[in-house]
Amino acid sequence: MAKQPDRTDPILEVSDLDCFYGDLQVIRQVCFKVLDGDVVALFGPNGHGKSTLLKTIGGIHPTANGSVRFRGQDITQAPVEQRVEMGLVYIPEDKNLFLDMSVLENLCMGAFNKRARKHLATGLQFVFSLFPRLAERKSQSAMTLSGGEARMLAIGRGMMSRAALLMIDEPSIGLSPLLKKTVFEAIRQIHSNSEASILVVEQEVDYPLKLAKRIYLLSKGRIVLEKQAGEINKAQIEKAYF
Ligand SMILES: Nc1ncnc2c1ncn2[C@@H]1O[C@H](COP(=O)(O)OP(=O)(O)OP(=O)(O)O)[C@@H](O)[C@H]1O
Ligand SMILES: [Mg+2]
Repeated sequence: MAKQPDRTDPILEVSDLDCFYGDLQVIRQVCFKVLDGDVVALFGPNGHGKSTLLKTIGGIHPTANGSVRFRGQDITQAPVEQRVEMGLVYIPEDKNLFLDMSVLENLCMGAFNKRARKHLATGLQFVFSLFPRLAERKSQSAMTLSGGEARMLAIGRGMMSRAALLMIDEPSIGLSPLLKKTVFEAIRQIHSNSEASILVVEQEVDYPLKLAKRIYLLSKGRIVLEKQAGEINKAQIEKAYF
């Protein structure tokens, strides 16, 4: 019989991570974990290393020291494609869409890995139910989408990969209040429908605070605060920024 997932197991464990750009150290001795099935929010001011941390976990930026374990396996040196095949997927801040392809083609590219390919049709159905706007524009070139639509497409493409852990970098950046709500509602549904674990990086505190079970704050490349949801409120997080 298949082993049931133990919700106290970490799906992601980051230990003593250091990262550099040339001589500039951006991530310093970072340790944190995401338990299987949880939503974790990582907050922090501009330029303090949030995206670098996600890129390093995703295999896009190299690790100088420390380790990353995913589902119990050391993946510190694993290439990006291997991490994606294992179910670790990063949705970057800058969207990174295939601009010369249509909405539908971009979504299909998200399901390129072996695990996701056989669930293409149900994946598309789920994305279109969360973002009907993408269904209306499925033949349209990604280049011509509005900022909000492009962000929906980036999140939708990440969802198509059937990630076990979805890392989402500032999903609400630059969006109207209404679209922010739509995007976080979609993230809530991804979590409840697919049982994916989610690591969301944000500056916007309200919505992630409602979703997350665990909160981390990154400042000057270090984790300076770690709390269970309910142990901290918005004002305390914002105060800790400064
Ligand atoms: N490719 C790069 N080369 C050199 N320095 C970089 C590079 N990318 C980022 N940095 C620097 O590393 C630091 C951390 O950047 P990072 O993008 O990780 O921050 P962030 O917390 O995601 O910021 P934001 O909230 O603005 O997205 C910044 O000082 C930035 O200037
Ligand atoms: Mg960033």
